Amino acid sequence: MKKYGHFSKDGSEFIITNPTPPHPWINYLTNEEYCAIISQAGGGYSFYKDCRSDRILRWLPENWHFDRPGRYIYVREKGKNGFQIDEAWSTTYQPLRRRPEFYQCRHGLGYTTIETTYDEIHTETTFFVPEKDTCEVWKVKISNRSGKDRVIELFPYIEWLLGDYHLELRYRNIMNLYNLIWYDKENSAILAKKTASWGMLNIQPFRYTAFFASSLPVKAAITRKESFLGRNNTEERPSGLTEETVKSVPLCSGEDGIGLFSHQLKLAPDQTKEFTIILGQTDSKQKIKKMLAKYRNIKLAEEELDRVKQLWKKRIYGNVEVKTPDKDFDTMINVWVKYQLYICNFWSRSPSYYHEGSGGRGYRDSCQDAEAAVSINAELSRRKIITVASLIRQDGTTAPGWSDTDGPHRFLPNKDHPVWLTSTVSAYIKETGDKKILLEKVPYLKDSWINGATKEDPNWKKGSVKSGEGTIFEHLKKNLDFGFRDTGPQGLPLIGHADWNDGIDSAGIKGKGESVWLAMALVRSLKLLAEIAVLMKKKQIANELNLKIKEMARRINKFAWDGAWYTRGFTDDGTVYGSSRNKQGKIFMNSQSWALLSEIANQDQTKKVLASIDKYLDGEHGAALFYPAYSEFDHRLGRITMFSEGTKENAAVFCHAVTWKVVADCMAGRGNKAYEGLKKIMPNSQRDYELYKTEPYVFAEYLIGPGHPYLYGEGSFTWITGTAGWSFLAATQYILGVRPEYEGLLVSPCIPSFWKRCEVIRHFRGAVYKIVIENPKGVKSGVKQIFVDGKKLASNLIPVGEKGKRYNVKVIMGK
Ligand code: GLC
Repeated sequence: MKKYGHFSKDGSEFIITNPTPPHPWINYLTNEEYCAIISQAGGGYSFYKDCRSDRILRWLPENWHFDRPGRYIYVREKGKNGFQIDEAWSTTYQPLRRRPEFYQCRHGLGYTTIETTYDEIHTETTFFVPEKDTCEVWKVKISNRSGKDRVIELFPYIEWLLGDYHLELRYRNIMNLYNLIWYDKENSAILAKKTASWGMLNIQPFRYTAFFASSLPVKAAITRKESFLGRNNTEERPSGLTEETVKSVPLCSGEDGIGLFSHQLKLAPDQTKEFTIILGQTDSKQKIKKMLAKYRNIKLAEEELDRVKQLWKKRIYGNVEVKTPDKDFDTMINVWVKYQLYICNFWSRSPSYYHEGSGGRGYRDSCQDAEAAVSINAELSRRKIITVASLIRQDGTTAPGWSDTDGPHRFLPNKDHPVWLTSTVSAYIKETGDKKILLEKVPYLKDSWINGATKEDPNWKKGSVKSGEGTIFEHLKKNLDFGFRDTGPQGLPLIGHADWNDGIDSAGIKGKGESVWLAMALVRSLKLLAEIAVLMKKKQIANELNLKIKEMARRINKFAWDGAWYTRGFTDDGTVYGSSRNKQGKIFMNSQSWALLSEIANQDQTKKVLASIDKYLDGEHGAALFYPAYSEFDHRLGRITMFSEGTKENAAVFCHAVTWKVVADCMAGRGNKAYEGLKKIMPNSQRDYELYKTEPYVFAEYLIGPGHPYLYGEGSFTWITGTAGWSFLAATQYILGVRPEYEGLLVSPCIPSFWKRCEVIRHFRGAVYKIVIENPKGVKSGVKQIFVDGKKLASNLIPVGEKGKRYNVKVIMGK
């Protein structure tokens, strides 16, 4: 890692010291409306509300190879031979890529600062997105360290995309024709919009205006791409940079557009000047004016940056903190995983540096993100619970997700949706004690797509019409009733177009294929709902749920036990997958880990399952999703067999699934295995970054698996993955073992035997617990005694304390 960077001492920044790490190493700067993705060299794009429908800056597929385009400031100075492109530079290294005398990028919580020095001119650019305004600010400090007077020219530069990114990809030549970009004298800003918005659903007036502005006096402004780049050129060698005078091109109509300003600065020896660049999008001229006035003022911009830094500090620190003998582990869990989890909660799985970003938010992902966030921001989780619940229909089925701009999604959901929300609600109540949420009324979804109506239907409103309402509890019950009903020939849940594993998308398309993992997940959720029913004193419902649990567990053990592990499912024609009878895809991780999570395996089965995981799935770079990888397309299973061996769902070390294995290890008391399992996928614990390649501060979606001929161990698709949430839960609630229950805080650590002492600071229902875990005998699990403020507890459940009080808890592990 040292070759490319390191964490700051307190772990709150990752400092990149080489502008070309093996992949772009990025940061997300965002409030909940505006988001800017930025790499260590200024690469990336921005969007407003939805990364598909309202993208502002251009992003190109494949840009993880070349890390362009992005947000740039070109700099030049007249030399003996006029203006030479090789003598110009860009303040973030890209796109001119001249070697800097000094380079450093600090990705922090809510900001990124890139510093470079060229020809003794030092710039420090801090990029951030304000707490509420829908824009981004680049705050630039430029210093002359040369001892001579200098006159330099600066050219801030961006490339517009404007509007729907998917349509842009498909109809590149047509989408340009809708561009309208102009220099607005009144605001000294470049404004940009499409003539209208040609969306997925219909044509509407373009809702927004994008803007680009600077706090420096504007000598010239260019809006047409060709005018600055020249013909046959990219941003890497813009011919405009060699022209003596850069002239204004104030109008771009129906072609590729950019935003570029020309500024001149005189800098005396040792002089530092500051300025800001502002880029954003909104729906009114007044708002643009207000944002420009605010952020052109350096002092106000600085104050806002401070506010953003404070806000992130408040979000990250002071909720759950761990102190273990492993500093890397602590840095991930205390800082970066929480930060990653926030980004997942804000934007789900769409805005990525790796794929085109389909927009919207997925049902299952949102439930899991919200569940993991309850201990750090219960209010955020609560809001999400309400939104997700309103995607449930009267018949218990769900929409697969929603978009903030287009409403509920109108395609078929995967079959696993019924199993997630109950878990989130249960976690939320255990954390907060807020049982009232169960009685909160939420509308049911009646979407036109499912009912065969079209958007011409007078009832059609943003894709949905309300169809009565019910309490959250009723929503959950209907949702799980549907899950229990929606079964195949053996009474196991249908897999339809896939379950959690998006890749198994053909096993059930004829309506018969079944999923064993889903049956287990269903059992777990039914158990959680039965607990909730008891809590609500609904005895009859609890009994009904208990019968269902028993019945589903019986079917799993009857039809899916394979001798030494559980199978993964059955295809439409009844062929088993994930069985010793298969040549490939013999054993899948999820139906082993969830056999433990759902507690359907007996002691003997548990032993066998764990031994099989160790024998077939665990490996040098983590536990694989299944073994062995598929080497040939199998239409009975689908896309899972299309991926190159070891990549994505075809037997990668899929980090999200690894975290469930870690939980299962903890449930079985395997402290060393749990810790090692998590460490193998931890981004800051990798041994070889030439191999791993991706950011050392956020989890990847997966590491390429052992089936791949030469990339085993490479990290892929970082940031937006369920791994963030579940690694946080696995580490804090299962390894350190501090787990909220309805009646209090359960302490049941399962740590590596060589950890002698660790600490957890836990805020819980208004009180603060300092929990010191001592492990004198070097055990992996088991609590001998617990003392709260010196008083011995009868069990390992700390009862709910008094609000505002601090408690000292001592936990002694052993038998
Ligand atoms: C991706 C998706 C997630 C899915 C997983 C497995 O991470 O975001 O929803 O469950 O892949 O297919």
